[in-house]
Amino acid sequence: MILVSRHLSRSSGPLGPSRHLPVLVDEVVEAMLPERGGLFVDATVGGGGHSARLLEASPDVQILAMDRDAEALERARFKLEGFGDRVHFVHAPFSSLENHLPSDWHGKLAGVLADFGVSSDQLEDRQRGFSFQQDGPLDMRMDATRQKTSAAVLLASASEDRLEAWLREFGEERFARRIAHALIQARRRGPILRTSQLAELVARNVPRSRHGHHPATRTFQALRIAVNRELDEIDAFLESVPKLLAPNGRLGVISFHSLEDRRVKRVFRNEVRSGEFRDPCPRGWTPSALELHRNPRARSARLRVLERLEVGQ
Ligand SMILES: C[S@@+](CC[C@H](N)C(=O)[O-])C[C@H]1O[C@@H](n2cnc3c(N)ncnc32)[C@H](O)[C@@H]1O
Repeated sequence: MILVSRHLSRSSGPLGPSRHLPVLVDEVVEAMLPERGGLFVDATVGGGGHSARLLEASPDVQILAMDRDAEALERARFKLEGFGDRVHFVHAPFSSLENHLPSDWHGKLAGVLADFGVSSDQLEDRQRGFSFQQDGPLDMRMDATRQKTSAAVLLASASEDRLEAWLREFGEERFARRIAHALIQARRRGPILRTSQLAELVARNVPRSRHGHHPATRTFQALRIAVNRELDEIDAFLESVPKLLAPNGRLGVISFHSLEDRRVKRVFRNEVRSGEFRDPCPRGWTPSALELHRNPRARSARLRVLERLEVGQ
């Protein structure tokens, strides 16, 4: 079996352990049935929190752990070191899962898990440029080693119509036109290169939300989705995974906003209609009050699960 496994390091020294709290982790263990053992894929290993729980559930679990972010993989390696060669790391986007899966794992997967979006490690690192709460370069690339176009470059080159479409479609932003116009005016005066510049510009041009969210929340989401082509990634992933599952194998997906969840629901509904899959919990799982208290970032998380049926079932 050949697996891509890169040694990851960066010049500034080793990264510390992950600060990311995995969401819906008990629900993931309940839904993915790792106690049966078998071959799993964690398509978004991040800090390794979900993978660790799946590996702990049975000594017969093996995991292919993917992430697009080399730093996330380095943290996951650190967290999952004790599980030895039961974990195989792949640095790649999950849209390419099928190409990275060893041929003898095709159609044999007991479970595939994806936990979309960004981790706390990414959000809290100001140099990555994901957060409007701290000043940093306007970057937002999940994989700076392979992606060429940062958020600053996109902002500098996109037309007003394109910016408005992203804000409307990816940010579900009511003030898309107004913000796009303000961005074009601002960039005539000079480049927008810092997260604080963008956050202040948006805040000056739209009213404060009644729900207490920062006015730039939706703009940052829209740009991040555009930079990383997140919705295309999700579509390609959801299209490729069902056929990779073993009979009784499960696909578990955690989404964080309606753009993601709508796609998951649509694909799962179509697969169930085909007669080859079932949806063991049609409403999905959402965080308990206790989890929300401990981890407010879990607020909008929803786990949905699709199960492949045995032939003749
Ligand atoms: C919410 S975090 C996952 C946290 C993880 N489940 C844990 O327990 O620590 C999402 C992760 O998905 C990764 N990611 C986002 N889009 C990706 C893609 N298209 N392909 C692979 N990884 C991706 C991010 O780099 C990030 O590390």
